[in-house]
Amino acid sequence: MRVWFWGFGDGGGLGQSVLNHPFPRSDGRLVCGAVLLGDLAADFGTPLYVYDLESIRSRVEGFRDAFDAAEPLIAYSVKANANLTLLRELAAHGCGADITSGGELFRARSAGISNEMIVFAGVGKSEEEIEFALDEDIYAFNVESRSELERIEGIAQRMGLSARIGVRVNPNVLASTPHEYTATGHSDTKFGVPWEEARALYRWALERDSLDPIGIDVHIGSQIVEIEPYVLALDRVLGVVKDLVAEGVPLKYLDIGGGFGINYGQGSGLDIGALAEEIVPRVLDSGLRLILEPGRSLVAEAGVFVTEVQYVKNCGQKTFVIVDGGMSELIRPSHYGGYHQIEPVGPIDGRAEAVVDVVGPICETGDFLALDRSMPLPMEGELLAVRTAGAYGFTMASNYNGRPRPAEVLVDGIDVRLVRRRETYEDLISGEV
Ligand code: LLP
Repeated sequence: MRVWFWGFGDGGGLGQSVLNHPFPRSDGRLVCGAVLLGDLAADFGTPLYVYDLESIRSRVEGFRDAFDAAEPLIAYSVKANANLTLLRELAAHGCGADITSGGELFRARSAGISNEMIVFAGVGKSEEEIEFALDEDIYAFNVESRSELERIEGIAQRMGLSARIGVRVNPNVLASTPHEYTATGHSDTKFGVPWEEARALYRWALERDSLDPIGIDVHIGSQIVEIEPYVLALDRVLGVVKDLVAEGVPLKYLDIGGGFGINYGQGSGLDIGALAEEIVPRVLDSGLRLILEPGRSLVAEAGVFVTEVQYVKNCGQKTFVIVDGGMSELIRPSHYGGYHQIEPVGPIDGRAEAVVDVVGPICETGDFLALDRSMPLPMEGELLAVRTAGAYGFTMASNYNGRPRPAEVLVDGIDVRLVRRRETYEDLISGEV
């Protein structure tokens, strides 16, 4: 591994800009930390996920600074990127976890995330998952229905425990998200309990020895770039909080979820500072402990997906750039129409632009990374970087079409760690009996 020593400690260097803009170019070539992306691909093969740890750290600090006055618990949303080493790093930087399954709980605990810093959302918590979470003594369940509350009560009673819970309130706020699949805060979605009905659940919980209603939760969607829906949802929830406190519900926490939008290279992300200015005074006024559940906003921009061009094929009017990674490794473009900037890992100087479809090797017309994209015409054998792939990339990857999942590499300045090895053909059949 060659290490690329530009910019570090040279006074006029790139140190600070690397923090804010991961994967800059040096001598025309993309770098991660102090290492050339091309070298990483040569050492670990493609397709490959590469994460820049410094950029993740700076994102965590950004949230901490913005919400400083409220001293929030940053419960990182594990579903965005669940790599164990990455979770361990986030734990070391004071993050807890927002989990949505027993599997994510297992990961979070395996990575050393403290049980008191874990909240559990999700509409379908099974008996087994609830038992596991009670055994692990997590901070709280964010409950999404009356039936779930009854189930938690029954299990906690059987185990001789008291379960700490909050109700996930559906505030009926339709936040604008890039795709309807990622809006969760309006009444047509399966998430949460209608805010008008939440009070009844708290009343029921208050009367049960094995339930300890200590919080309230809201999460209105993902990749939201406007502040208004957060404020509207929070004000609705605070209305409920007022009534609950008056009724003697001993609330301790207010979880405003995640969904903070980032810049995918088109438009801009959510202004976290401006959001905090609206949220913090309201939360301080409520006297409750603030919980934030950022996922994408901590890790998306810190990741790239590196893939190699296999063939360039012209069919009539169309040019297809066929790469070695597709919807099985990064499903966001085909599933949500998600936009990811794509560019050559090496120099692009003077190359003609062309309009191409960047497609994967999977036998589906819907297998693409970009459609009708204007970019420097890629060459066969060349590496391409798909940006902003650190969130919902690997975690949504599958083995479809018999494809081993890619390796993941974590870079911290000059330090390069393989944090997940590439799967083998043996791995593909290892669970079958
Ligand atoms: N909290 C809860 C309860 C959630 O359901 C989610 C995401 C988050 C926090 C974190 O949201 P974030 O800050 O990452 O936006 N696969 C989709 C996104 C699905 C989000 C699901 N829930 C995508 O690739 O855009």
